[in-house]
Amino acid sequence: MSILEIRKMGDPVLKEVCKPVEKITKKIKILLDDMAETMYVNEGVGIAAPQVGVAIRAVIIDVGEKRYDLINPVIVESEGKVIDSEGCLSFPGVYGDVERAEKVRVEYTNRFGKRKFIEADGLLARCLQHELDHLDGRLFIEVAQNLTEGFRK
Ligand code: CO
Repeated sequence: MSILEIRKMGDPVLKEVCKPVEKITKKIKILLDDMAETMYVNEGVGIAAPQVGVAIRAVIIDVGEKRYDLINPVIVESEGKVIDSEGCLSFPGVYGDVERAEKVRVEYTNRFGKRKFIEADGLLARCLQHELDHLDGRLFIEVAQNLTEGFRK
């Protein structure tokens, strides 16, 4: 596995609408493992493929319970609203309050090609919504309130 460069604020790949993964090749599995290692070494709880410069619909999440490898994830149900603080590996040191759904149901394909789902609330639900936004080029700073000082456009 290798640690990849994290694309930062202003990199155009962060604004791309990512393409679906058509086939889970060896190359995709290596990318997923490299994304996970990059996330762990930077102490993140989620990372999306465009954050390492690859505009495909793949996300890794681990909020401390288990690692999820999410391919072509889609939010199919959401419920409630909750505001909490978020950060992002592409915006180091920047935090802001973001309103998210309280609960979500996400369907995805796992690395073995099986269609699965997650029902989540709390940090996992927030992280899922944040990472899935990355796949459509949506960044938390565009919707966050009370961004921390040090952030400049
Ligand atoms: Co992010």
